[in-house]
This record gives sequence, structure tokens and C-alpha cells, in this order.
Amino acid sequence: MKDRHVVVLSGAGISAESGLGTFRGGGGLWEGVSVKDVATPEAWQRDRARVLRFYNERRRDIRRAEPNDAHRALRELEDVFKVTIITQNIDDLHERAGSSDVVHLHGEIMKARSSLDERLLYPCVGDISIGDTCAKGSQLRPHVVWFGEPVPKMEEAISVAKTADFFIVVGTSLEVYPAASLVDYVPYESTKFFIDPSPSGLADESFHVIASAASEGVPRVVSQLRALMA
Ligand code: OAD
Repeated sequence: MKDRHVVVLSGAGISAESGLGTFRGGGGLWEGVSVKDVATPEAWQRDRARVLRFYNERRRDIRRAEPNDAHRALRELEDVFKVTIITQNIDDLHERAGSSDVVHLHGEIMKARSSLDERLLYPCVGDISIGDTCAKGSQLRPHVVWFGEPVPKMEEAISVAKTADFFIVVGTSLEVYPAASLVDYVPYESTKFFIDPSPSGLADESFHVIASAASEGVPRVVSQLRALMA
């Protein structure tokens, strides 16, 4: 029985070494394109083709990418612990590494959703085009959360964060809410790690800060945790 629970909050940085760009900072996705042009309900109303093009490119990049050592180490942690990964990422690299319990706060690019009825979801490996419709006849959109939209998985993520014996934050600037507020729900007595090569976004001093890339820092923390249970 795996009774100790490791909860992970991951962001774009965990997939950086798989070749997927982060959002902020030099060379980040949001430097080259404006959030309001591609990642808001208003952008969708204004120019659906542009929004679809942006996410079709993301999906193509993600399909070409492979999980890295950080994703794989988190999978291995399941040999010893109950592990839940709360990810802000829309990619499927945690699942492709074999992780079995992943909560996608900001949606999943490999699914399409009806723009009329958010319960209508479809697997989506290729592009979404204008004219692709759901069973009720409305245009399909990517199954992602845009700025200004609610985050339906937040309640579930808060419940999970509250049960953490160990909490690992990796590869996120913690600039986007409500996702960033999850650190506030983690029990005081849990052991917390923050893995990021530029760990600037965290004020909470109860975290062990590991200033490394995910592919190095995550396996290191995973070995430490496994050793605790040996
Ligand atoms: P950001 O781009 O804001 O932050 C990425 C973080 O990853 C930064 O702190 C980097 O220092 C770190 N990083 C870079 N390379 C790394 C590596 N090799 N290993 C580990 N960390 C590395 O990305 P997020 O915090 O994930 O939302 O962004 C949050 C949300 O903002 C996204 O989910 C997306 C975006 O707009 C929506 O689109 C709704």
C-alpha cells in the first residue's frame, strides 16, 4: 500500500528540454505573440483561424517532442509513492512517460472541444480547421483554458494539494493564477521542493530550492525520496 502522497505542480519548464518553449522570459512564446491575440475568448470571437493556427502549431511541436528524464523520473516515483501530477502544461509528455494520475489545469491540446457544449470532447492528433464541428454542429476549438476563462479543475487540484506529504514544484514561474495559489494549500508540515534553473518566483521559504534544469533536478529529488522509503 503506497500511503505517502507526492504531489507535483509542473509548468512549461519541465518540457523545455524536450524542445518545447516556455512562455515567459527571453525567447518565450509570449515574446513573439500576444496573449490577447491567441489565448482569450475575445481572440476566438475576432479571428478563429488565427487561434486555431496558433494551437495547431503547438500540437505539431508537441507530437514531435519526447518525454525527458524529468518526466520519466516522476513516473518511476510511482513505484514507491502515490503520485499526483498537477500540470499547467497542455502537452501529454507526463502521460507518455507513463504517469497515471495527471490533472491538466489548463487543458489538453490533444483533445478538441465543442465551442457550444464544453462536455463534448474528442481525441485530436491532427489540426483543427474552420468547419470542423462537434456532434451538435458547432465549431471545434482546442480543449485549453484561455485567459479570462474559469479553471474547472482547480477545485480538484486544491483537494489534491491538501493531501500532499511531499510537494514538488518544477518549471513554473508561478506568475499565473489561480494555478500559482496551489502552493498555499499544501500542508505546513509537508516537505517541499522547488526545481527551476532561475528560481525567482517563490517567496515561501519552507521550500528546498534546487536551482537546476528539470532533467537533473527532478531525478535528484526522486532519488532522495526513494531513499527515504528504502
Ligand atoms: P513560464 O514560461 O511562465 O515559466 C517557465 C519556468 O520554467 C521559468 O521559471 C523558467 O525559469 C523555468 N525553466 C526554463 N527552463 C527550464 C528547465 N530546463 N527546467 C526547469 N525549469 C525551467 O511557464 P508556466 O509557469 O508554466 O497558460 O506558465 C504558466 C501558464 O502561463 C501556462 O500554463 C500558460 C501560460 O500562459 C495558459 O495559456 C492559460
